[in-house]
Amino acid sequence: ARLVVLVSGSGTNLQALLDASQDPAYGARVVAVGADRDGIEGLARAERAGVPTFTVRVRDFPSREHWDRALAEQVAASEPDLVVSAGFMKLLGGAFLERFGGRVLNTHPALSPAFPGTQGPADALAYGVKVTGCTLFVVDAGVDTGPILAQEAVPVEADDDVETLHERIKVAERRMLVDAVGRAAREGLRVEGRRVRFGA
Ligand code: GRF
Repeated sequence: ARLVVLVSGSGTNLQALLDASQDPAYGARVVAVGADRDGIEGLARAERAGVPTFTVRVRDFPSREHWDRALAEQVAASEPDLVVSAGFMKLLGGAFLERFGGRVLNTHPALSPAFPGTQGPADALAYGVKVTGCTLFVVDAGVDTGPILAQEAVPVEADDDVETLHERIKVAERRMLVDAVGRAAREGLRVEGRRVRFGA
């Protein structure tokens, strides 16, 4: 299966997919990496792996809708079977989801529906939960609200700060992402309302 991965930062989830796809049996390969900004480690990781990259910046467009359509065009050019939003910090809008709906996976560093948005680990720490984790879901029009494909629980330690907690979450997240994307690539995905399962 052909994966397009969208990133905005360090790209360690992307790196996990790049590493997994070295094995031909994995069933998926990253055919392009897209970002909403230049100069991030995620793009450098793609370049080191010889994977084409593109950047689509909101400020280069007259409106968010124009950006959303431009991003959809760029992604479509790589003919993805699956789009993986891994640390991509922009909401994908209607035009994008019309084009790729049901085939966009997003990974979130909290146990949805808890702590949606860009501060999942910080919100979990502030709330004082003892267990948090990560969630892989099929993107819908909401903020981290799509049907859930996989989750992993991660303990919060007494001396955690946001960085130590987020790094512990990311260890589980990368494993969850690689496993689920590989299965989706090999078996397919079916979304039925709030349910999504592997299979054609
Ligand atoms: C991940 O935890 C992702 O869920 C969150 O930001 C982090 C990105 O990490 N949105 P990386 O860029 O994959 O290292």
